Amino acid sequence: MKKITIAIDGFSSTGKSTLAKQLARALGYVYVDTGAMYRAITLFAMNKGFIGANFENRDGLVAALSKIQLRFVFNEDLGFSEMYLNDKNVEAEIRKMEVSRNVSHIAEIEQVRIKLVALQKKMGEKKGIVMDGRDIGSVVFPEAELKIFMTASPEKRAYRRYKELLDRGEKIRYEEVLENVEKRDYIDSHREFSPLMKSSGAIEFDNSDMGLKEQFERMHNFALRVIEKQV
Ligand code: DC
Repeated sequence: MKKITIAIDGFSSTGKSTLAKQLARALGYVYVDTGAMYRAITLFAMNKGFIGANFENRDGLVAALSKIQLRFVFNEDLGFSEMYLNDKNVEAEIRKMEVSRNVSHIAEIEQVRIKLVALQKKMGEKKGIVMDGRDIGSVVFPEAELKIFMTASPEKRAYRRYKELLDRGEKIRYEEVLENVEKRDYIDSHREFSPLMKSSGAIEFDNSDMGLKEQFERMHNFALRVIEKQV
């Protein structure tokens, strides 16, 4: 069976990664979470003092980009890949609220995007990949055989994220999460380079009122139909 490329884009906390992981597992494809790559560069920038609460040193970060090495390492026990930044597992650290607060600003930097898009294209050279992010269908794989654009109301998304953060033990208020979700939506959709948008040919998928099982079944069927048509 010929392999395809599946590009999943959408607003933050729409459940892209949950769906992408399930699809990849069912199809025997590789899953790549590109948000993790932007988050890892953000963590690097925070650790090196290139970004903080009220400051940003873009030139400093751009000059240091060549020192950043990113790798996904598959964790057999968890069943998915974890992000490594310069050989250190940063999977837990990059999910923290502090990183979420800074990541949109880092993702706006053209040189950061150029570096990461090149890496992502390389990862998908052999197809058989499910990649999620904001610019996958528009910039990374405009030729992807299946493109999905996921949406859900900001309130629903913030609530999902809030529960996730509480489960991880972060002390956080719902209103703060909602504010972060809305702020990131705005920055992600209005930035100069590769803004978040529904790319041509993408299927819009609003999952505000849909459970995980239904989402997976629908998308799995879409994927199987597209795969069957490949010659
Ligand atoms: O999917 P996420 O919330 O982990 O993504 C973190 C941030 O990275 C998000 O605010 C936008 C940015 N991002 C991006 O600009 N392009 C991508 N392909 C993936 C993420």
